Amino acid sequence: VTDAGAVKRLVQACRPDAVIHAQALSNVDACEHDPETAYLQNVQPVKYLCRALQDTPAWLLLVSTDYVFDGRKQAPYTEADAPNPLSVYGRTKLAAEEQALRYPRARVVRPSTLFGVGRMNFCQAVAMALSQGQSILALRDQTTSPTYTQDLAEGIEAVIQAIRRAPDASAPRIYHITNAGACTRVEFATHIAAQLGYSPSLIRPVTRQELGFDAPRPAWSALVSDHFTSLTRRTIRPWYDAVNEYLAQHPWSN
Ligand SMILES: NC(=O)c1ccc[n+]([C@@H]2O[C@H](COP(=O)([O-])OP(=O)(O)OC[C@H]3O[C@@H](n4cnc5c(N)ncnc54)[C@H](OP(=O)(O)O)[C@@H]3O)[C@@H](O)[C@H]2O)c1
Repeated sequence: VTDAGAVKRLVQACRPDAVIHAQALSNVDACEHDPETAYLQNVQPVKYLCRALQDTPAWLLLVSTDYVFDGRKQAPYTEADAPNPLSVYGRTKLAAEEQALRYPRARVVRPSTLFGVGRMNFCQAVAMALSQGQSILALRDQTTSPTYTQDLAEGIEAVIQAIRRAPDASAPRIYHITNAGACTRVEFATHIAAQLGYSPSLIRPVTRQELGFDAPRPAWSALVSDHFTSLTRRTIRPWYDAVNEYLAQHPWSN
């Protein structure tokens, strides 16, 4: 996707009804170290896609992030809240949103902390550590809305169906799609321990400062999906129900 010609050829070959653009350089600290690569990976491909799609009827769904917010609200962010990213990653994702929204048939979806099959994630790391009797560090000063990738995928599909049915030009164009509710990583890990029958004593609460991240992270970036619910008439289940389903489908579950 960093090759404009390749993007154009792919669009011409596929003639898509909708493109879901989930690619990104999502390593927040790597972005902080190398802003130029972050821009090339997170913004430039969206420009190429918009250009390749411009003479087509295709919808563009851009997967963005809760890290476009600064966390100072200390309460869940709605789609109407003003972004103010703290990190290079967040700034490039916001620039990608702005780029996408110049394309008339674009919609932005923002998940928060992802977990699901196919990629190592916090939920899996906690389950694996606890099942092997190992301790695990968990942040106690960062609150997000865990987002099950299966629920995100279904949410994106619901957005596509709704906008194809009623492509109202005045409708909102940014949708938060997360599981309902909010928690710190300590609360997330404690829930996993309880669900799998392990002692929470192996969970070691730490702060962002103690972990010494290179990139700043918002203290509070839980999201509420008001626009999503009014567009699709759907709500998304609470994060702990989604975690329970994910854990039940995996071998570390008893
Ligand atoms: N992780 C989170 O908690 C989180 C939270 C909020 C939002 N998001 C957003 O969700 C999306 C997915 O994030 P993720 O963490 O799942 O990312 P990820 O695991 O790094 O996945 C990114 C995907 O993009 C592909 N990709 C990377 N560079 C590419 C390139 N130049 N050309 C073609 N494909 C390329 C990767 O392919 P390979 O597998 O082949 O490398 C991978 O499949 C991103 O837009 C991210 O900003 C993530």
